[in-house]
Amino acid sequence: MKLHPLWKPYPSISKELATTLNLMEKSINLKNKAVEKAVLEMIHSGGKMLRPAYQLLFSQFGPQQDRQKAMALAASIEMLHTATLLHDDVVDDADLRRGLPTVRSTFGNDVAVYAGDYLLVCCFKLLADYSGSLKSLQLNSRSMEKILSGELGQMESRYQFDGTVTQYIENISGKTAELFALSCSIGAYESGMNQRFAKKCGDIGLNIGIAFQIIDDILDYTQDSQEIGKPVLEDVRQGIYSLPLLYALQEDKQSLLPYLEKREAMTEDDTQQVFALVHQLHGVEKAQELAEIYTKKALTAIDSLPENEQQTKVILATITKNILTRTN
Ligand code: IPE
Ligand code: IPE
Ligand code: MG
Ligand code: MG
Repeated sequence: MKLHPLWKPYPSISKELATTLNLMEKSINLKNKAVEKAVLEMIHSGGKMLRPAYQLLFSQFGPQQDRQKAMALAASIEMLHTATLLHDDVVDDADLRRGLPTVRSTFGNDVAVYAGDYLLVCCFKLLADYSGSLKSLQLNSRSMEKILSGELGQMESRYQFDGTVTQYIENISGKTAELFALSCSIGAYESGMNQRFAKKCGDIGLNIGIAFQIIDDILDYTQDSQEIGKPVLEDVRQGIYSLPLLYALQEDKQSLLPYLEKREAMTEDDTQQVFALVHQLHGVEKAQELAEIYTKKALTAIDSLPENEQQTKVILATITKNILTRTN
């Protein structure tokens, strides 16, 4: 399986990510061949592997440079991420992921749920086998709780025409940014850095993750589904009002309401009207500005990290900046 082209400029990270993917594959062994096949297809479908990359990069700061352990822990995080995607596509009824039919559409919702469950098991098995202390297990389970809480917060806000930006940031901090935070903090902690430093790394990850999800929500309004490899404008139809739409609603609720009030009955034409209004009302522009603010916070903190031989800081800054201009 080829690695995402994003990593081409970084041979040493590419190599470790390829091994990480290998470790993921090797840890999968199920009697049920349908579920096993679904899991294998999913992990080889070309994800960007951003979270394990951040984890591996942050693990370069500490005095303990056991790369086998770092890669096993990176595999554990990517498995957790993959599990959330499998389950998310069931919840969102999505048919496309990474440019391919979703596991749920090919194998059915039942197989997709079990495949996600199995990946969660694998995540904890690897973590328990390789982490140096109970601390990482504790951090991991707390993050999972926050991811769920963000997802539930989003579900509770469905079809709320006056949702706030604060609520939105709270929800995406949980559902998405928390896993970036975990990757950065576990990376640093398991390489022998103290909890204070690990917490600082976690805060950097949180800001990166918030910017990442804002951009993801912008792509819904700027790209077609072919380009991003997953459905677009599905959120609006399902009552999930992400940042560009929230800003547009703040600007001119009256114009948007007639379309949004139709809820599940929104037609393709209605969705296109909402799309046009979100652009006209500067929703995309404002969302981009907020993403830039979170990225700047992350970059300032990255700049204050210690220097090292591998120039970790420079790579971290570059990939974090690239998230702002990503197209998939
Ligand atoms: C998708 O994350 C889920 C979100 C948090 C938006 P990624 O875009 O990192 O997913 P893959 O692994 O690269 O497909
Ligand atoms: C991403 O949710 C967060 C999780 C998977 C927990 P979304 O529903 O916003 O992500 P995409 O757009 O399907 O990747
Ligand atoms: Mg989804
Ligand atoms: Mg979702």
